[in-house]
Amino acid sequence: MRLTRYFMPVLKEDPKEAQIVSHRLMLRAGMIKQQSAGIYSWLPMGLKVLNRIQQIVHEEQARAGHIPVLMPTIQSADLWRESGRYDDYGEEMLRITDRHKRDMLYGPTNEEVITDIFRAHVSSYKDLPLTLYQIQWKFRDEIRPRFGVMRGREFLMKDGYNFDLTRDAALHAYNRHLVSYLRSYERMGLQAIPMRADGGPIGGDYTHEFLVLAETGESEVFYDSEITDLKFGSRAIDYDSVEQCQAVLEEFTSRYARTDETHDAAIFDQIPEERRRTARGIEVGQIFYFGTKYSESMGATVVGPDGNRTPVEMGSHGIGVSRLLGAIIEASHDDKGIIWPEGVTPFEVGIVNLKQGDASTDSACEALYAELKSKGLDPLYDDRDERAGAKFATVDLIGLPWRITVGPRGLANNKVELTSRRTGEAVEMSPQEAVSRLVEVYQPVKDAAL
Ligand SMILES: Nc1ncnc2c1ncn2[C@@H]1O[C@H](COP(=O)(O)OP(=O)(O)OP(=O)(O)O)[C@@H](O)[C@H]1O
Ligand SMILES: [Mg+2]
Repeated sequence: MRLTRYFMPVLKEDPKEAQIVSHRLMLRAGMIKQQSAGIYSWLPMGLKVLNRIQQIVHEEQARAGHIPVLMPTIQSADLWRESGRYDDYGEEMLRITDRHKRDMLYGPTNEEVITDIFRAHVSSYKDLPLTLYQIQWKFRDEIRPRFGVMRGREFLMKDGYNFDLTRDAALHAYNRHLVSYLRSYERMGLQAIPMRADGGPIGGDYTHEFLVLAETGESEVFYDSEITDLKFGSRAIDYDSVEQCQAVLEEFTSRYARTDETHDAAIFDQIPEERRRTARGIEVGQIFYFGTKYSESMGATVVGPDGNRTPVEMGSHGIGVSRLLGAIIEASHDDKGIIWPEGVTPFEVGIVNLKQGDASTDSACEALYAELKSKGLDPLYDDRDERAGAKFATVDLIGLPWRITVGPRGLANNKVELTSRRTGEAVEMSPQEAVSRLVEVYQPVKDAAL
């Protein structure tokens, strides 16, 4: 993409309405525009990152054997009456009446619709295990939408639902989701710590929230500092192996890590003092085993091997896809702007032309641009007629992890400069070398998708 042909409405001033850094930077970088409280348009660069996050989620869901579907945003109230949640859900549900005076709603979550699909088409244990998921917009009429995409009213969520014959099989599905989430967040450059969450009325140990540590997080969290040393990494895992998934769950959840909802000071105080941490965190996902809560009330049963019908065992598992943009920025920025992790960056590299209009500099930039593209990289070429300082400020603000600076002085010796956004380190090299360095840098990102 050439910047002169792109649509990236960068703001010069700090927007007054933004209270936290991610919201401020997303507005300044021209990624989103608020349309109503908690409702946003996604401008091209915001959409690019949103799509990259979705892509990672899809790839990791596929790896775990989960099947994508797409359910409507507008749902019938009758389904929610069957589960009993229509009256329970309260003010957060956006209720709509159609022209025939039928009660509809904009889905805040999808347990009812997915259970309806299941009961219409599955009746034998032979079709299990089954996990269906979607990435779809949700609406929750939050009382205080704030912090930009972090707490919106309309937001994009991955929601997945497992269907299993037995409780043990459903718990394996739970563990499988935990593994796939660890991998997904790491590919986004995030450490998201599974923390024991509140099971609500259902109770039990079988819900974890994934939290990204950040000062601006809305949850208070308590954890054993050893947990931050854990890394899932590129280990190979067989998602069908009960033992392997269970082992990962144990590794990542055996140390103390809880939100204020489940915090237990007596247990916490048994951890050696130097390892006790109190901090704040952003919830970027949650996994939940709830058994037959919906299958019983909605009549989703399967015939088991013994010929008897039993309600199917279920769980639901969410990732806050649009919230993740905010969480990533909160975890990765400096005073100049965003620092995108390589796995989600909107463009892999920015090309800065120091002397726009100079024939040889222009053609060197064009050649570099073409070469990067031919290697499967996506560069943003700042071809504006602007001062170098302004161009640097823009690439820094929008957070591209790498910058290639091209000017007549360097070119005289066949040199350009490759600069890391994260470390600020700048190295002179030939344009060819810069391209091969970037191909190398992005190889792990490509490999992680395989
Ligand atoms: N209003 C929102 N705006 C953006 N993302 C959200 C919002 N509400 C929930 N999410 C994201 O969707 C994921 C799954 O939804 P879930 O039902 O667990 O949310 P929740 O526990 O009600 O979230 P919260 O406690 O933050 O209100 C959450 O982990 C979160 O990342
Ligand atoms: Mg939650």
